[in-house]
Amino acid sequence: MASGKRVAVVTGASTGIGRATAVRLAREPGAELVLVARREELLRELAEQLPCRATYVAVDLTDAEAPQRVRSHLEAEHGGDLHLLVNNAGASWRASFAEGGYENVRRHMELNFDAVVRLTEALLPLLRASAPSAIVNVASTAGRVARARTGSYSASKFALIGWTDALYAEEKPNRVHVGMVLPGFIKTEGFPATELREKAVTRWIVSKPEKVAEAIYECGPGGRAERYVPRPYGVAAALRILTPSLVRRVLGGGAASNLTTSTAGDREKSSDSG
Ligand SMILES: NC(=O)c1ccc[n+]([C@@H]2O[C@H](COP(=O)([O-])OP(=O)(O)OC[C@H]3O[C@@H](n4cnc5c(N)ncnc54)[C@H](OP(=O)(O)O)[C@@H]3O)[C@@H](O)[C@H]2O)c1
Repeated sequence: MASGKRVAVVTGASTGIGRATAVRLAREPGAELVLVARREELLRELAEQLPCRATYVAVDLTDAEAPQRVRSHLEAEHGGDLHLLVNNAGASWRASFAEGGYENVRRHMELNFDAVVRLTEALLPLLRASAPSAIVNVASTAGRVARARTGSYSASKFALIGWTDALYAEEKPNRVHVGMVLPGFIKTEGFPATELREKAVTRWIVSKPEKVAEAIYECGPGGRAERYVPRPYGVAAALRILTPSLVRRVLGGGAASNLTTSTAGDREKSSDSG
């Protein structure tokens, strides 16, 4: 761009990985950020702290009008430029299929997949017009390897990964790079990983949002296609393909319960039910 500005939209910027990503991107020359999530006071606070121009849209991304609201905001506040879209907002509500049924699958797909697809559809024309530009989708290692009680979450992330791979190939000729980050256990508000952090034997596998933010930078402006965070989680994904029976045996046994952590979504559920 002649002006040298680099406009980025980060969804789920109020906490965790999205917040860390906003902080990371704000260090880049010419950065202008649009922070998106539901909690306006957190977005305002962050926008005021960042060392670059930052605006925000407080919106529930599952609302029908959310994609158009973000697009109109970009056109009104940032001249319609868009160099990076980070699709990060997401959540998980743990339940077996027998307990959660289709409704739990639906709510995961609505936020972790449909909302990403709808926002990308609305913003792709701006990304193409601002090319070279990039999209980074925040998937999960759970989008490669499913565990008991995370089936709905995994289904939404498996879907996201498949769609992202196709979009990568489709948008290459348009100079819109499509990258993907697959985090493992990362301590955040939504995914506190309390069970793992409490035990010395598993504490070491929990990583930090700042590491994911760096990977998001590498897979966006940095042009990488995909990154696991921490990197060794890629081994689990490879083993799932190469030695499926071994992975089934491990995840069907005692180790699996150690790896199924509770989430903020679970706390919501228990307070809903009193
Ligand atoms: N942490 C992990 O262990 C881990 C592992 C693998 C993948 N991931 C993925 O990383 C992404 C970020 O998660 P995180 O760990 O950073 O969790 P987090 O701290 O709970 O952040 C989730 C973000 O999404 C926003 N959000 C949730 N529902 C929304 C909605 N309906 N509309 C708009 N924004 C919404 C939240 O903000 P508001 O509540 O203010 O709306 C928040 O900013 C997710 O896609 C998650 O699946 C996380």
